[in-house]
Amino acid sequence: MTAQDASALSLQAFLFADPAAHSLSPHMHRAAFQSAGLRGDYTAVRVPAPDLAAAVAGLRRPGVLGANLSLPHKEAALPLLDDLTPAARAIGAVNTIIHRGGRLTGENTDAPGLLEDLREHWPHGEGVPGAVVVLGAGGAARAGVYTALTLLGRDVVVVNRTPERARQLVASWPGAGAWGRLEAADASSVPWTDVALVINASSAGLNNPEQTPLDAAYLRRLPPGALVYDMVYAPPETRLMADARAAGLRAANGLGMLAQQARLAFTAWTGRDVPVTVFREALDSPRSGERK
Ligand SMILES: NC(=O)c1ccc[n+]([C@@H]2O[C@H](COP(=O)([O-])OP(=O)(O)OC[C@H]3O[C@@H](n4cnc5c(N)ncnc54)[C@H](OP(=O)(O)O)[C@@H]3O)[C@@H](O)[C@H]2O)c1
Repeated sequence: MTAQDASALSLQAFLFADPAAHSLSPHMHRAAFQSAGLRGDYTAVRVPAPDLAAAVAGLRRPGVLGANLSLPHKEAALPLLDDLTPAARAIGAVNTIIHRGGRLTGENTDAPGLLEDLREHWPHGEGVPGAVVVLGAGGAARAGVYTALTLLGRDVVVVNRTPERARQLVASWPGAGAWGRLEAADASSVPWTDVALVINASSAGLNNPEQTPLDAAYLRRLPPGALVYDMVYAPPETRLMADARAAGLRAANGLGMLAQQARLAFTAWTGRDVPVTVFREALDSPRSGERK
């Protein structure tokens, strides 16, 4: 199905990505439509970068709820939209487009989705003092920084394989300093004993159970009660998570974040708050790929 064909259907939501074939999002959103008792469908559409503007324009039709965006469109879509939410503006990336009456609003549900999942895996986290280390410097890292800095109100240190990109992320952050402190650092200069939460927002470990973004020696310096959260969810137990558990820490993968960002997008489109368990169960059944 082409993007144009897809947009011609009514009561529809889409994923625009390239590639899109192995997406898990249709499983989640179809289950959500069913659970909510709504007649609707969600289709993953392969949209090459040059076709993004036409695909987004097609969302303005009556009956189209909106779309999710994944690689490589999350940043490129910004100038194609009428409005951005504060989160999407600060993060500089849109994972959800909401269509209302011909207008398109760009939202980012990755950040609040991460927050919801952190609350589940780290219910007593508010009582653990310390900064947040975000590993990575791409779009997922920007969502992680927004969650930690703005939603959790923590100081944040960005650590990336290419340090210059971490410095660029910090320099480009809007209103840096308005919440906690935001800085870039090498892993060797992070005060690990004062770190409450590590968020892996790099792709290290993705489909590679031996690969880790962080030397285990740093994890052993974290205080008890700290959480190591890996946005990667394939494999479900990453090397980073195994190293964290071996150091006596809590660890979680990004499957819950994937489900929560979908739940929040579905609510934004339909006004219905479908329980996250519906999305989680849909993820458990197909396991046909790893990307949303
Ligand atoms: N759970 C969820 O719902 C969810 C949502 C969004 C994203 N994610 C996951 O988050 C990850 C990052 O996504 P993204 O969109 O931000 O990707 P991206 O823009 O391509 O950024 C990738 C980042 O990973 C770093 N990296 C790649 N390989 C590495 C390695 N071997 N060791 C250390 N660092 C490495 C890169 O460092 P350099 O700058 O040095 O290249 C870069 O900072 C992906 O695995 C994605 O699946 C999960």
